[in-house]
Amino acid sequence: MVDNVVLLGGGGCCCCLFVIFVAIMLALGFKKVESSQWALQYDWWSESVKEDPLTQAGLHFVGIGNYLLTFPATSKYCYFRNFDNSFQPDDDDVFMPPLNVRTSDGLKVTLELEFVYRLQMAKLRDLYMLVGDSGYRNTLVHVASAAISAHATNFSAQAFYGDRGDVQGAFQAALAKELDRVLYITVVSFQLQPAHFPKLYAAAIVETQEMKQDIQVAEQENKTKVIQKQTQLYSARQLAHQIIIKAEGEAQQTLVQNQADVAQFKYRQQVLAEGYSKALNFFSSQGQDAVPNFLSYLKVEALKAHGGSQKTVKLTPVV
Ligand SMILES: *[C@@H]1O[C@H](CO)[C@@H](O)[C@H](O)[C@H]1NC(C)=O
Ligand SMILES: *[C@@H]1O[C@H](CO)[C@@H](O)[C@H](O)[C@H]1NC(C)=O
Repeated sequence: MVDNVVLLGGGGCCCCLFVIFVAIMLALGFKKVESSQWALQYDWWSESVKEDPLTQAGLHFVGIGNYLLTFPATSKYCYFRNFDNSFQPDDDDVFMPPLNVRTSDGLKVTLELEFVYRLQMAKLRDLYMLVGDSGYRNTLVHVASAAISAHATNFSAQAFYGDRGDVQGAFQAALAKELDRVLYITVVSFQLQPAHFPKLYAAAIVETQEMKQDIQVAEQENKTKVIQKQTQLYSARQLAHQIIIKAEGEAQQTLVQNQADVAQFKYRQQVLAEGYSKALNFFSSQGQDAVPNFLSYLKVEALKAHGGSQKTVKLTPVV
């Protein structure tokens, strides 16, 4: 009786254990996919990867012993930057120090940049077969560095200095092409930061900028001076013109005045001459001495008119 109980109890226990075992095995056959993930199913029994990725978030039954290879379903960053401690890295982002490249003129410059990339769902298995489930990040870094270093030699140091639009465009195009071709990775966006130049070059660039500014200032001053001088020249010409007009006016006035004086003088002389002529006729009829007396009178009158003037006058003595 005691034996039976033990036997019964043992049988129940066995059954119980079996149920628990099956439950655990079933539970182990479920794997979870996060909403930010895509997953490939690895079949442990056949050592193969299933063709289609799991893209729905949640629990999936993959079978006992099998497991999932997860990949980011969202856009991720790849940085080539100097990081300070405040920087919070995100999972699956790639962090690398800045890139050293050479420009077309042989200058060594250090580039800081970052780009956003995305894996291609349809090519996930191809990517895995190529580089494994996490190896793509290493390969990504190598392919990106090589593409950027190669294309940096297309541009002069000057191109990296000012407006970097052309350089950035060329880098993005090259990177997109290479990553798509080699790793089935899409480049979503690309950002090139200001480049770091060797100290001497940077100093020379600053000096050049300053010189350019000085030249601009000088040119502006030149323009101002030219305008000032032109204004002065204009005023002087105006003044000269006025003076000429005034002088011409005065000359004209003098001329008219003189003509009037002359006419007046001539008229007076004429009237006087006529007067004298009449007087002479008159005295001629008054006897022998009358004319000489009259002439002597005229001489005295002339002497009186001569007045204080310094001129010497020669007169025949009055008898
Ligand atoms: C830039 O460099 C790449 C790689 O060296 C080359 O294939 C490409 O033709 C160059 N492009 C220009 C515009 O020089
Ligand atoms: C100053 O400006 C004038 C007129 O614009 C120009 O002819 C001249 O060459 C300039 N001088 C200098 C030194 O640039």
